[in-house]
Amino acid sequence: MSYIEEMACKVNEIMEKKSIKVLSIETSCDETSCAVVENGRNVLSNIISSQVDFHRKFGGVVPEVASRKHVELIDYVVDDALSEAGVGFEDIDAVAVTHGPGLVGALLVGVSHAKALAFALKLPLVGVHHIEGHICANYIEHKTLEPPYITLVASGGHSHLVHVKGYGKYEILGRTRDDAAGEAFDKVARALDLGYPGGPLVEALAREGDPRAIDFPRTYLEDGSLDFSFSGLKTAVLNYLNTCLQKGESVNRADVAASFQQAVLDVLVDKTVAAARKTGQRVVTLAGGVASNGRLREELRQRCTAAGYEFMYPSGILCTDNAAMIGCAGYYRLITGTISPLSLNAAASMEMDSY
Ligand code: KG4
Ligand code: ZN
Repeated sequence: MSYIEEMACKVNEIMEKKSIKVLSIETSCDETSCAVVENGRNVLSNIISSQVDFHRKFGGVVPEVASRKHVELIDYVVDDALSEAGVGFEDIDAVAVTHGPGLVGALLVGVSHAKALAFALKLPLVGVHHIEGHICANYIEHKTLEPPYITLVASGGHSHLVHVKGYGKYEILGRTRDDAAGEAFDKVARALDLGYPGGPLVEALAREGDPRAIDFPRTYLEDGSLDFSFSGLKTAVLNYLNTCLQKGESVNRADVAASFQQAVLDVLVDKTVAAARKTGQRVVTLAGGVASNGRLREELRQRCTAAGYEFMYPSGILCTDNAAMIGCAGYYRLITGTISPLSLNAAASMEMDSY
């Protein structure tokens, strides 16, 4: 019997169990994370070892450094996840892992580790799309949330508007054509000498500024488009700073941060509400690193309430990269019979609709 045939039988046995425990691994960028998740939504442990201090001095993630740190940390993080959950390898029913998109060298560490565990323990392996993981973070905290609904996933690598039609069934309604929202925050933070990662630092500085002080452009693209574009806005901020410098004028950095943030949020909020209207969905969720932004949460909440939509977002720790969200997504893939071969590979870029 092939591994896939053997595992398909095993999944039938697993489905009989009251408690299905998935061990999940996330190494797509600069967080080495492992979790144990029971029945998709009950997080028994979620260990996140952030490498941010190593990358901060370079002003961004250095891929080679990230891969090496994942190699150093992965064993310890897996051990910690098991012991915090109070379980051993013998209690695990399946292994889930992010296999893309992300930094390919970083992904490979998690994928190789997960494949080795699945092979040695004779467990089903489930490859998870990173964005699907972010979307599933909401299931962990909102136990009643069920598809269908609209979600905005805004992170350092992606800005996606997704119609979640079922577990594992996604239609991408819009995506960024250039910079992702989080990437724009990080680049503007660098221009303002705020450091890395930029999002939380821009948000903190923006609290002291006036969001209407500078009229930065909002890019809506062609009529009815739900795609995003943030590179023009980023360039407008850089041009504004350079012009001030050339003219010898002082810059109110808090006003720049607040006005930039408002320009990003206006577009994100308008297009998310438009996506709900277009599809007739009445539940809206927010996910990804940028979902930590308090002003984005508040503005989207207000607009959703006004339109009569239910609105949900995960707490901070589940917004940024973590393995619990991968365990949740992996559980739903497992129970819908989607298991991966041991030849599963890492992919730097990967579409979600063809997934
Ligand atoms: O989801 P995530 O941890 O990693 C990726 O998959 O990219 O997102 C990280 C991104 C970074 O660009 C970071 O600057 C941004 O999320 N971010 C924020 C905030 N917190 C994190 N952006 C705006 N406001 C925040 N409070
Ligand atoms: Zn992410």
